[in-house]
Amino acid sequence: MQQETVTIILPTYEEVDSLPSLIDALAEVKKESLPNLSLIIVDDNSDDGTEALIAEKNIPWVRLIVRRDEKGLSTAVIRGLEEAQSEFCIVMDADGSHPASAIPSMIEALVHDADFTVGSRYVPGGSTEDGWGVLRWLNSKIATIMARPFTTVKDSMSGFLGMRRETFLTAKDLDPVGYKIGLELIVKCRCKNVVEVPIHFRTRQLGESKLTLKVQWEYLQHVIRLLRYTHPKFVSFFTFAAVGVSGLGVYILALMVTPLVIAIWIAMTWNFFWDRKYAFWDSRKNSIVSQYFGFVLVCSAGAVANYFITSWFVENAHSIPLAGLVGGLSASVIGIVFNYVFNKAFVF
Ligand code: GDD
Ligand code: MN
Repeated sequence: MQQETVTIILPTYEEVDSLPSLIDALAEVKKESLPNLSLIIVDDNSDDGTEALIAEKNIPWVRLIVRRDEKGLSTAVIRGLEEAQSEFCIVMDADGSHPASAIPSMIEALVHDADFTVGSRYVPGGSTEDGWGVLRWLNSKIATIMARPFTTVKDSMSGFLGMRRETFLTAKDLDPVGYKIGLELIVKCRCKNVVEVPIHFRTRQLGESKLTLKVQWEYLQHVIRLLRYTHPKFVSFFTFAAVGVSGLGVYILALMVTPLVIAIWIAMTWNFFWDRKYAFWDSRKNSIVSQYFGFVLVCSAGAVANYFITSWFVENAHSIPLAGLVGGLSASVIGIVFNYVFNKAFVF
């Protein structure tokens, strides 16, 4: 018997059919190994009888929170974590995919030296029930690979996770979008020692999955936000360079129909809007008008420098094959760095 206080957090949306067997499984864990276990269900107004079921069961260690005007898995999980009073918290799915029997080992890991734990399909002893279509499998693989810059955890997509409440309270700038709250917590709580406990992931028996295309789109946005959070300079410059390349395309197209000066102006304006939105995403400190003029000024200086560097190559570097091209390319690289540095320093 362990004396630790543990709250299980169960986000639910239309899971009334799955809840009884999960509550039974948790009761078993409570009886066998964790007497101080309690359950918080965070339901998003399912309207499927969840409230009646919990009221009827009337179990003292089970609490239901119904959110009437908010939706979403990640925010539901955070709400549960905020409401918990125990030393340890475990988050899991309600549909039976996550075995309650793994909870004692997860708590064990946290009691020792883990600062985060996940029930994992991808460590020795872990598995996924057959019947995952190729698409779902591929989806999960790609998502896991995209999480690589943030964590080496093998099953970083797992929604079966645990941490001390204290660790949760250290979370900075939580920005929950979409499904992958585990990844968000590992990054924002700066968890170093993540212990993966092997689980057998069962296919949901009842009800329907909520994993839709929208969820995948949100995941992509989530990864970009996390990258901005962990590698802001890299993402900012990389985006700026990408916008620069797109601007070059716009410039070439515009040249076909307008005079040179107009084409330059169109390309600059194009770059300005995308850079302001994506490369310098959190700098809204100056007015857009002054930013625009600053941007045009810096880029014009860059364009002039570009012109002189290219001409210098063409005139002086006869020994280099394709001097014009080499000159144009190196001038562009210098130009992008120049434009970036000055825009970052003075404009945005
Ligand atoms: N409160 C609330 N609000 N709960 C939600 C919502 C919501 O908007 N959307 C889903 N849930 C609950 C479900 O009721 C279930 O208990 C749990 O979140 C997971 O939802 P599923 O629809 O069963 O997700 P899944 O099976 O596609 O995804 C599972 O696998 C992923 C890894 O492949 C979950 O374990 C994910 O957490 C996990 O990341
Ligand atoms: Mn599921």
